[in-house]
Amino acid sequence: MTSSQNGFSTRAIHAAQEPDARTGAVNVPIYLTSTYQLEGIEKHRGWEYSRVNNPTRDALEANIAALEGGASGHAFASGMAAIAALVTMLNTGDHVICGHNVYGGTTRLFSQVIVRHGIEFSWVDTSNTDNVRKAIRPTTKLVHIETPTNPVMTLTDIRAVADICHEHGIPLSVDNTFMSPYFQRPLEHGADVAMHSTTKFLNGHSDGLGGMLVTNNAKLAESFRFVQKCTGGILSPFESWLVLRGVKTLAVRMRQHDANGRAVAAFLVKHPKVSNVLYPGLESHPQYELAKRQMSGFGSMIAFEVGSRANADKLLQAVRVITNGESLGGVESLISHSATTTHASLSDEERRSIGITEGLVRISVGIEDIDDILGDLDQALGKT
Ligand SMILES: Cc1ncc(COP(=O)(O)O)c(C=O)c1O
Repeated sequence: MTSSQNGFSTRAIHAAQEPDARTGAVNVPIYLTSTYQLEGIEKHRGWEYSRVNNPTRDALEANIAALEGGASGHAFASGMAAIAALVTMLNTGDHVICGHNVYGGTTRLFSQVIVRHGIEFSWVDTSNTDNVRKAIRPTTKLVHIETPTNPVMTLTDIRAVADICHEHGIPLSVDNTFMSPYFQRPLEHGADVAMHSTTKFLNGHSDGLGGMLVTNNAKLAESFRFVQKCTGGILSPFESWLVLRGVKTLAVRMRQHDANGRAVAAFLVKHPKVSNVLYPGLESHPQYELAKRQMSGFGSMIAFEVGSRANADKLLQAVRVITNGESLGGVESLISHSATTTHASLSDEERRSIGITEGLVRISVGIEDIDDILGDLDQALGKT
């Protein structure tokens, strides 16, 4: 049995993953079953139907909750399904404050889908916490932030925003996808929900989509459980198992991502063809002090400027070890052009206002040998 006293890696490997009671198998089986034998009317062994719960998903939910320091986890079919679940329980007329440069898919969901249900949104630069205070209305029912943001790596002080939210009884959710619980645990800083696209660092191998909401708030937990049951956008047993497997190596992967991320940032800063390197681990980052306070590492997400869309195109076509691809958080290094991928759904003006230029490129530094990553970047930048 693991406990909250155990270290991070021990919890990652063992929490909710006791050897199988029947066979002793050390891995949680993939329970490919839609339904369960009942023992009588209204009598069951804890499982009735897999949309409601499934032992493989249960193990993943409890495992990630243990890593985030939360009471319960709720797994969804993707990060977007998790974010959709967050707002599904709101009512017409409710108001949400959302960070103004969150992942483009979040902006698209809120501004093109959820808004049609009469829920109002304020898009706020939450790096200045006064903006959050000013945006609060009597109808505000949720504050949702991302820190660091995708792709410009702006931080928000979670503790300061949580304090403001709690003065008004408003829950705060934090998209923790970029840092993973290894480097940042929003609930410890007062947030009510830690949200993840498990597709990224938690899974870590770019072989499955998934989303997670972790909370310490019993009322929110109940509503997330209810949304899982009602809307059915839950994570499959197989993909739950993939994330469970990935998470076992989260600590070692994150340490290597962080080491490689620092090395790539240092290399880019000195490169003559690169400007404006955005990485919270650089002393030049305007929120370096907050980064050190709020996170225990800086991760491996870096954005940088190569001057034009044409240069970005040349760079992305020239990479050989690094892959030109849209996602992040896998063992392999991925590079992408934010304006035409993750933030394509925003208008030119919206992108400009949050600093996403045509020459901005984002790299998710993988855990390949650092000399190979740097060599590849150097030769590819030579083509720009
Ligand atoms: C920070 C962040 N949040 C949420 C998402 C959405 O996750 P998914 O692609 O698993 O739906 C992404 C996807 O890139 C992301 O980067």
